[in-house]
Parts: sequence; C-alpha cells; structure tokens
Amino acid sequence: MYRKLCRSLSAWIMFFLFWREALVHAGVTSSYVRKLSESKDMPIDSLAFRPPSGFNAPQQVHITQGDYDGHAVIISWVSTSQSTLGVLTYSLANDGSESNDVHCNATNYTFASYKSGYIHHCLVGGLMHDSNYTYKLGKGAEARQFWFCTPPKLGPDVAYTFGIIGDLGQTYDSLRTFEHYTASNGQAVLYVGDLSYADHYPQHNGERWDTWGRFIEPSTAYQPWIWTAGNHEIEFSPELDEIEPFKPFLHRYATPYAASNSTSPLWYAIRRASAHIIVLSSYSAYGKYTPQWIWLHDELKRVDRTITPWLIILVHTPLYDSNRAHYMEGEGMRAEFETWFLKYKVDAVFSGHAHAYERTHRVSNVVSYAVSGGCVPAHDRSAPVYVTVGDGGNIEGLARTYIQPQPEYSAFREASYGHAILDIKNRTHAHLMWHRNDDGEVSIADEFWIQNQIWMPRKSSDVVPRRILKKSFSKLKCSVCEQSPLLKRLLNAA
Ligand SMILES: *[C@@H]1O[C@H](CO)[C@@H](O)[C@H](O)[C@H]1NC(C)=O
Ligand SMILES: *[C@@H]1O[C@H](CO)[C@@H](O)[C@H](O)[C@H]1NC(C)=O
Ligand SMILES: *[C@@H]1O[C@H](CO)[C@@H](O)[C@H](O)[C@H]1NC(C)=O
Ligand SMILES: *[C@@H]1O[C@H](CO)[C@@H](O)[C@H](O)[C@H]1NC(C)=O
Ligand SMILES: *[C@@H]1O[C@H](CO)[C@@H](O)[C@H](O)[C@H]1NC(C)=O
Repeated sequence: MYRKLCRSLSAWIMFFLFWREALVHAGVTSSYVRKLSESKDMPIDSLAFRPPSGFNAPQQVHITQGDYDGHAVIISWVSTSQSTLGVLTYSLANDGSESNDVHCNATNYTFASYKSGYIHHCLVGGLMHDSNYTYKLGKGAEARQFWFCTPPKLGPDVAYTFGIIGDLGQTYDSLRTFEHYTASNGQAVLYVGDLSYADHYPQHNGERWDTWGRFIEPSTAYQPWIWTAGNHEIEFSPELDEIEPFKPFLHRYATPYAASNSTSPLWYAIRRASAHIIVLSSYSAYGKYTPQWIWLHDELKRVDRTITPWLIILVHTPLYDSNRAHYMEGEGMRAEFETWFLKYKVDAVFSGHAHAYERTHRVSNVVSYAVSGGCVPAHDRSAPVYVTVGDGGNIEGLARTYIQPQPEYSAFREASYGHAILDIKNRTHAHLMWHRNDDGEVSIADEFWIQNQIWMPRKSSDVVPRRILKKSFSKLKCSVCEQSPLLKRLLNAA
C-alpha cells in the first residue's frame, strides 16, 4: 500500500520537477573561454595614475552620497601639503548661486613606513534634487573643477541606473572594466568591496592606495560610489605593528553611516531614486545582539516599499555562489540573516569576493527536515536574486574553477572580467546586465529582468509547490522513497 503510494507519488514528483525545471530554466555555465594571460598591475608611472599638474593640486577626488535621501554628498580628496585644507567652493552649474552648508575636515595616517597625504572630507548638504552642481577644489593654479548630478526625489517609479563593480584593483584588466563602465549610462556605482589591493605589496605599499584613487577619479569625482568593505580592506598586520582593522580604507573612503543611525562606517544604508540600499560588512561581527545585527534589524523595519520599492543589499562575501574560490565563506552570514532577507523580500543581493560572475535563481535554504537530515537550497519566490560581480580585474586573477555539476540554485556563471548595470525602470521592473570585457570589447553576456518582490503580481503557478509538497511528504513513511535522490531533492526543496 505504502509502496504503491510512493510509486505514484514519485511519478507525480518527477512530473512536477520537470515542469518546474521548465519554468525556471536550468543553470548555465557559460562556455565562453577567455584568453589566459597574467593579471599584472599597471606600473606606478602609468598614465592612468598620473597626478594632476600644479604643486599640491587636489587629487584622488571622490564623492559619495552624504545623507539618507540624497540631499548631500561627501566630497573627498588628497593633497600633499595641508595648505588646501577646506578650500572647496561649489555652485549650481546653471545659476552660480552658492550655499554655505559645508563641513570639511582633514586627516592623515601612517601604515608601516608609508605616510599618507592629507585626506580631506567635506560634507556638502542642503542640495536640491535632480540638479547639476559644479565644485572647485584648491585655489589659484592648483584649482580643479568638477561636477555631479544629485539624484531625483525619492519615489516608487523613479528610474535610475546603477553600475555594479567589485574587486577592481589596478591591473590592465581593471582599466578595461573601468573604461567600459565609464562609457555606460551608469549614474552611481554600487561598489561591492576590495578596492586597491595595495595589501598585495610588501608593507601594503600605501602608494598603491594613492594610484588607485587617481585611477578611478575620472568617475568618482563626478558620480557617487557607494562603498562596501572587503577582505582586502582589513589590512590587519601585527607583523607590521598595524593592528587597527580597515585603517587605510576608513581614513580614505567616507560613508554616510550616521545618517542611517549606524554606529560604524562599515555598515549603513542610503535611499536613492527608487532604491533602498543596505551595505553590510562581512568582516565585522554580525551575530545576534552585535551592533551590526541590531542595526540591520532596525534598518529593515525602516524600509518603506511604497517610497523605495527596490530593496538591495551589498555585501562583499556572497551568500550563494558556486565558485570554488571562497566557496561557502558566506554561510555564517547566510545562517544569520537569510530569514530576514525572505521576511522583508529583498530584491537582490550583490557581492564580490569570488573573481567571476554568477547569478542565482530565487532560492532559500531555511527549512531543515529532521527525516532527511538535509537542508539544501530550494526555489523560493520570496528570496532575493544573488549576484556575484567580483570580476573587476585585480592582480589575483580570475577564479575559474566551479563546483560541478552546476548546483540547481545557480542560473548563470562565467569567469571573465567585467561589470554589471542595474537599470531600474519603475516599481515593477529592473534590468540587470552583466558586461563581459571580452578582452577589449564590452559585450552583454548575461541579462535578466528582476521583477520587484513587492510590486509584482504573483502568478499562481509560482506559489503552489512549497506547501503541497510538504504536506504530501509528511504522510509518507516508506524507505524506498527516502532513498530516492529525486525525492530527497524534492523534500529539501519543499
Ligand atoms: C598629520 O598632520 C599633522 C598636521 O600637519 C602632523 O602634525 C602629523 O604629524 C601628521 N600625522 C601623520 C601620521 O602623518
Ligand atoms: C570629520 O571628522 C569627524 C571626526 O573624525 C567625522 O565623524 C566626520 O564624519 C568627518 N566629516 C566628514 C565630512 O567626513
Ligand atoms: C553639469 O555641468 C557641467 C558644467 O556646466 C557640464 O560640463 C556637465 O556636462 C553637466 N553635466 C550634465 C550631466 O549635464
Ligand atoms: C535616527 O535616529 C533619530 C533619533 O532617534 C531619528 O530622529 C531619525 O529619524 C533616525 N534616522 C533614521 C534614518 O531612521
Ligand atoms: C515598467 O517597466 C517595464 C519595462 O520597461 C514595462 O514593460 C512596464 O510597462 C512598466 N510599467 C509601467 C506601469 O509603466
């Protein structure tokens, strides 16, 4: 009797799996084979790193959002002599009017034998939305002028285009990625961690932080980059007597953490256009009751999907990724935060760390079955899409080895250098495109329409499986079924 039940159930299950497979598409491991060549840093006297002319001219200019809602920017730059401290003027490009809501300060640091220049940070507030502001740094012959556009007022249908770059470094491949991004229509960059790779050098040569700052200036001086810290930012080096984690990063790259009531620059949130963006730190404590855990717990409650339909998380270490490099390193954070990501219906989680590109189906791994002992990722309509964009092009090279066969949760994966673009169209649709550098040319290698988790009408076919299958199984007690790999897969998927 049980045996019969099992057999018919198995047939039903088989049918369902194929049906579901057809619905979600099987994973793709791209067959594109990239030419293999060494990833070398550009030489220190390379054109991309050339300092601006003029004694003490402001260099390494970069801006980031300065508040919660986009009325402020933080403008940062480096000067070799302190004399330019606080010399910043800015005006609306069109009417020349100036505001005086500016707060500047300068800092400097040493790391092993390296001594930094003066790193200036100015918080410029009270800006109008959707406006072009010019700003001037320094004075006289050394002065340099730049501009940036403030974001539109927050709203559910505000279109906005984000670039997504990770693990960039400063190789010739980094240069290609960077050039391809700057030629795109990206309006701000979501940077998913690992910036300069200065720590690759003996004594973490701080000059490689300076070259990196000059390298990215053609973009960072004109549009905000939203910073996430990666493992290469930690620079914890007792052997060099440097025991303050994230020291160079925190001196150089400011974040508007206080505006989201965070107590650390390493985790914070901003709202921009129609997106609520939450930045997490993989390398800071996130266990229950830690500052980051408490902050995220509160921040998720602040998300208002009627104002910002898109809920996006940036975190360096991927929570789902099937690259051999750093495989499962994100398990701790996944165990801690995944239920919240489901509860709050996060749309997408962007990460770096593995030097490749990968996109998952909507999956979760929060149900454990005592009987099967298993817990494997299951398709889950409430789950975010996880995207790894760790392929900026740094000195460590690509991560080419994948877990085989391709796990069911993985939709597309390829080890090539590139960057991604998230083109938010309105409250229901965002277009994700991954641009492969293709050894010189930019080409779209993966694209995907992300449907908003709150604003998309649910198709009934999307919600059926989970409950029905769970119920069927609880009535089932025969060993034949328990041993079937197909059933096992299903149990875990239920
Ligand atoms: C930073 O700047 C101050 C003021 O010029 C100077 O006295 C100090 O030595 C500098 N600190 C480092 C670590 O370079
Ligand atoms: C200026 O320095 C203070 C203290 O270090 C810091 O809290 C603040 O964020 C800085 N301002 C800017 C604009 O970075
Ligand atoms: C902003 O204004 C500057 C200076 O007038 C101009 O060069 C730049 O093209 C403007 N940017 C945009 C996006 O309009
Ligand atoms: C931060 O906390 C203050 C004081 O409790 C509150 O007024 C403010 O709205 C909070 N900011 C955010 C972004 O929630
Ligand atoms: C939202 O954008 C998508 C993609 O461009 C489009 O098909 C859809 O009609 C838009 N929805 C509305 C309400 O405009």
